[in-house]
Amino acid sequence: MTKRPKAKPPRAKPKEQRAKAPVLAGVNTCVFDAYGTLFDFSTAAGRYRKVLRGKTDLLTDLWRQKQLQYTWLRSLMGKHADFWEVTRDALEYALDALNLKDQELKEGLLEVYMALDAFSEVKQVLGRIKDSGKKTAVLSNGSPIMLRAAVGTAGMTALIDEIISIEEVGMYKPHPSVYRQAVVRLGAQPNEIAYLSANGWDAHGGASFGFHAIWVNRNNLPVERVPTRPKIVIKTLDELPSIIGLDT
Ligand code: 2OP
Repeated sequence: MTKRPKAKPPRAKPKEQRAKAPVLAGVNTCVFDAYGTLFDFSTAAGRYRKVLRGKTDLLTDLWRQKQLQYTWLRSLMGKHADFWEVTRDALEYALDALNLKDQELKEGLLEVYMALDAFSEVKQVLGRIKDSGKKTAVLSNGSPIMLRAAVGTAGMTALIDEIISIEEVGMYKPHPSVYRQAVVRLGAQPNEIAYLSANGWDAHGGASFGFHAIWVNRNNLPVERVPTRPKIVIKTLDELPSIIGLDT
């Protein structure tokens, strides 16, 4: 008797992909993380692709990793410096590690970082939220100067009601005081706020604080193994209007 191969059971999709995103009732404000969520930090190295060649993506990744590490280290050490300084330090480390030390290149990359491209869907989605009468805000590690420059360059000044920088609390994400500052500035309750971040760990931070956290998983990454999973996972901000009930 020939053995029939057992049919493989279908692989369960992760819960967040299986479930249709629920409509969040009672959300009157959408708060967005900046870097990676609204603005594409790969713009900077991308602009120097001809010079960086095979090291372009390596530089983007290492620069970002170091930038975030330095925010966490500085908050833990109680040695705060603003995000511009941290971004410059991280870039210096990354250029050094990749044997790319060059003052002109460093300054050029930093200049682009001040005026990063927004992701393609961002303006249209912000416009829809504003038209619906809901509020919009940015809550970011970025310094006020960096955030105003990014929002202004992207032509989004009229689409963002509040720009909130962690400089107001002197502590980096995901410290709860950062998310609390949004509640204070916006005069809204945590459960009236949808918090969107493409940085998984930041979405967990927002969820842990009590926001309706939505992870914008642009790069199809696995779930972070830190407490408090965000309730909803989307691929781009295009999915946001229906989640906050604008398509009904
Ligand atoms: C931001 O706060 C975490 O870079 C991210 O904008």
